[in-house]
Amino acid sequence: MPLHLGVNIDHIATLRQARYRTMPGAHNVEPSILQAALEAEAAGAHSITVHLRADRRHIVDEDVFLLRREIGTMMNLEMGNTPEILGIALKVRPHFVCMVPENREEVTTEGGLDVIGQKAALRASVTQLEQNGTRVSMFIDPDLDQVRASAEIGASMIELHTGTFANELGAQRSVEAARLKTAAELGQALGLQINAGHGLTTKNLRELFIVPHLAELNIGHSIVARSVFVGLRTAIHEMLELMKEYPNA
Ligand code: PXP
Repeated sequence: MPLHLGVNIDHIATLRQARYRTMPGAHNVEPSILQAALEAEAAGAHSITVHLRADRRHIVDEDVFLLRREIGTMMNLEMGNTPEILGIALKVRPHFVCMVPENREEVTTEGGLDVIGQKAALRASVTQLEQNGTRVSMFIDPDLDQVRASAEIGASMIELHTGTFANELGAQRSVEAARLKTAAELGQALGLQINAGHGLTTKNLRELFIVPHLAELNIGHSIVARSVFVGLRTAIHEMLELMKEYPNA
């Protein structure tokens, strides 16, 4: 199986909201989130990822329903485990849900989910989502106890948080890559699909390739940032080219 790429298009919506937050139905709203998703698919993205945050700072409810109807690949919905967002996810029925921690003040998702600390609540949501046809992933730090807890509550997948890996350099980055490797090995042994994401760029990706068993990477910010200069399709092509170097691919 080639390493799959989920393209996170939240920041296309960030750009839209920067101008049109207070006039959502206006005739001149741009950029179009659907066009971004279709461009990403045309470029070879394997799935489209969006995060419906409680504060709706970028993606809004309408986007999620529209994308679910119109895209041709898979939809991955990132969400905090709240009754409100769970209700939406059960209606939308995305192919995948990735459960993430969510703090109102954060600029982006900081740190992995504490699965151990919220086992009962997460298990209940995972059960409902999986019975509703959605495969569920836990966005966790490369912590072996969190990997075990994710398997115990019935998740199909984990997404290993690569934010620390991305923010470190040199020897410290290698230490973090080794932690990710150990977590991936345990996850695989427990029957989980292993995904990874956060802070990944064409500059740091090769150093992640020591991590075995990766099925999918979720990448947003660096692709959208690069697309300002080269366009979304080229930015995605560049990432996919690099991903071909992944040894298990
Ligand atoms: N995976 C998860 C669970 C995330 O929350 C995010 C950020 O929205 C990403 C991947 C993508 O991170 P980035 O935008 O840094 O590529």
